[in-house]
Amino acid sequence: MQQGGKSARGRVILAATAKGGAGKSTTIACLACWWHAAGGRIALVDADPNRTLTRWHAKGAALGAVPLVSEAHEERIVDAIDGLTAAHELVLVDCPGFNGQVTLFAVGTADCVLIPCMTDEANVFEALRMGKLVENVAKLANRPIPSHALLTRVKRASVAAHSRAQLETLQARPLTSFLSDRAVFQEASFHGSSPVALEPRGQATREIKALAAEVWAIVAPKGG
Ligand SMILES: Nc1ncnc2c1ncn2[C@@H]1O[C@H](COP(=O)(O)OP(=O)(O)O)[C@@H](O)[C@H]1O
Ligand SMILES: [Mg+2]
Repeated sequence: MQQGGKSARGRVILAATAKGGAGKSTTIACLACWWHAAGGRIALVDADPNRTLTRWHAKGAALGAVPLVSEAHEERIVDAIDGLTAAHELVLVDCPGFNGQVTLFAVGTADCVLIPCMTDEANVFEALRMGKLVENVAKLANRPIPSHALLTRVKRASVAAHSRAQLETLQARPLTSFLSDRAVFQEASFHGSSPVALEPRGQATREIKALAAEVWAIVAPKGG
């Protein structure tokens, strides 16, 4: 993909980390619900063989009208993502909880890689590894691929501040926005919904709104 020609194409946003349960699928589903509700032309790719996002989508509540491609095969993932960028402003990709070829190839297509990270040492460690992986793919692809840690399931501000400080020191560029630990995120997964629909005035919705704005500022086509 040429950088020059890319501005006319949809932007590709990934959630990726080898840490299971860090919030990849939740992040993608919530951002998708937000942008879909805002009228964006978006599409989803479920690159995880566990198909969490596909089940979320199949419940139909909030994401039913959003096209989703379930593709967890390394030979087809790039074409699956590229095929959606022509007709959609944003293509949101949910990666598996391990670093295989599917994740590498998906990173190669990305305009922004979000690295969900809970506030503990093992999550921070894995987020840093994911950041290095993105750096290496960017070298191979000979273009910058922005990556940012995203603090998820935040319970205590003091622990989150510590995690953030570590991520900043080690150049994982944590986003200002974060997702706190709230039951409504789990409730949303059961209903195939989103906090945006379940609690439109709730804290979780405010967090998703702030996250969507921050991510859009990273990927928005120049002058758009
Ligand atoms: N911000 C949050 N607050 C509460 N529960 C969360 C939050 N984010 C994720 N979860 C829950 O944690 C579990 C793992 O989240 P998930 O998004 O599936 O992670 P991953 O895709 O990285 O494996 C799920 O049960 C999900 O409902
Ligand atoms: Mg998942």
